[in-house]
Amino acid sequence: MSAPTRGGWASRFGFIMAAAGSAIGLGNIWKFPYMTASHGGGAFLVVYLVCVFVFGISLLLAELVLGRMAKRNPIGAFRKLAGGAWPAVGALGVVTALVILSFYVVVSGWAMAYFVYAVEGTLTTASSGELNALFGHLVSSPIVPLIYAALFVLLTAVVVIGGVAGGIERMAKLFMPLLFIILILLMVRSLTLPGAGRGLVFFLHPDWSAIDGHLISAALGQAFFTLSLGVGGMITYGSYMADTQDLGRDALSVVALNTMVSLLAGLMVIPAMISAGITPDAGGPGTTFKVLPTVFAAMPAGNLFGIGFFFLLILAALTSSVSLLEPVVSFFVDEYRMKRANATVIGASFCFALAIPVSLSFGIWHHIQLFGLTIFKLMDFLTSNLALPIGSLMTALCVGWVVRRAAVDELSNHGRIAAGWAPIWLFFIRYIAPIGIVWILVQGLFGL
Ligand code: PFF
Repeated sequence: MSAPTRGGWASRFGFIMAAAGSAIGLGNIWKFPYMTASHGGGAFLVVYLVCVFVFGISLLLAELVLGRMAKRNPIGAFRKLAGGAWPAVGALGVVTALVILSFYVVVSGWAMAYFVYAVEGTLTTASSGELNALFGHLVSSPIVPLIYAALFVLLTAVVVIGGVAGGIERMAKLFMPLLFIILILLMVRSLTLPGAGRGLVFFLHPDWSAIDGHLISAALGQAFFTLSLGVGGMITYGSYMADTQDLGRDALSVVALNTMVSLLAGLMVIPAMISAGITPDAGGPGTTFKVLPTVFAAMPAGNLFGIGFFFLLILAALTSSVSLLEPVVSFFVDEYRMKRANATVIGASFCFALAIPVSLSFGIWHHIQLFGLTIFKLMDFLTSNLALPIGSLMTALCVGWVVRRAAVDELSNHGRIAAGWAPIWLFFIRYIAPIGIVWILVQGLFGL
């Protein structure tokens, strides 16, 4: 039974905007372009899209089904529906969400700093050398990025304390449509820059020889990251859904919106990157930040576009970061009957403590490395390449083999699309997803 304090979405549109808001974020606009660029362009795009459609849709449905059936946080949901050791999967998710959040707030902090640069007018007057230096200087300084990260953690906490419908849903409904519009405008300008054609070919034309185990594993991790899967975020969001909502149709809307934004971001960043003479491999986590100012500079009222873009990027990041904090908060609220505000403060403090080493790893702690990876890269690798696929694998096994019929019933209950597709979905969740994920994990780890 749902506890009276849990809350729920006020409307179907509100749910779609909030779930799309969770999915659409830095993963699409900051991470996807540089991952695609550094993994050979078109080949990565194709494998990524295959992962989204083969694994992403079925797992998104699995998480939403689990959440709506149990009406609990991820750990509680696994306990209620499967028992035994399964709640450990929820626990892994909650921990993973906190780790992701710790680097998410650092990058969101950079976006806040860039918003300030745009307001000051620095971005559109800088040369490309100066833009490089600006980014390097920001991320390597010990204090400034942490102040911005702290501010962002605070913003996240304020929205989460606002509650499900009042905070998250209201914000997502307002700003997601605006983000779409500004991305389209920037994409058009980027595609018409001199030399952009080569970038377009690089992004859309697959060089099949680039595909190897590492690429496939990175693409799978990106697919889960971008759809907010494997940490229980969508279990939590599903737990706030009305029983009458059509799960299949709504999940497809979320995947479609999210994929569109990734494609728009790729089309916005990669041609401009090639046009600015940055080699795809060299971009890394700074790509979006270094490249977009060159697009703003080439536009009338470019500075205004810069201000608008970074404002919306911060909001897109915020609608995702709240969904990373929400599983932690709902866990404390459900399991310990803790007040929402107290649970939020605990989760947010933890996350900020973890953000400190992440931020320093771009500067004075750059030399601290494990397996040749800095603290940021290690956290990114451990979450995207290991924890998310493993969390998703276990979710698929639980839904496909333990919950089984009840999950199919839940999916078909109020769905028009879902009713006919439910058996096919079950087949994917039982066989295709587990076998595929294990195969990709092995490929990625042993680099076959
Ligand atoms: N999907 C978000 C993005 O692409 O930026 C990141 C994310 C949010 C991952 C929520 C996981 C999650 F639970």
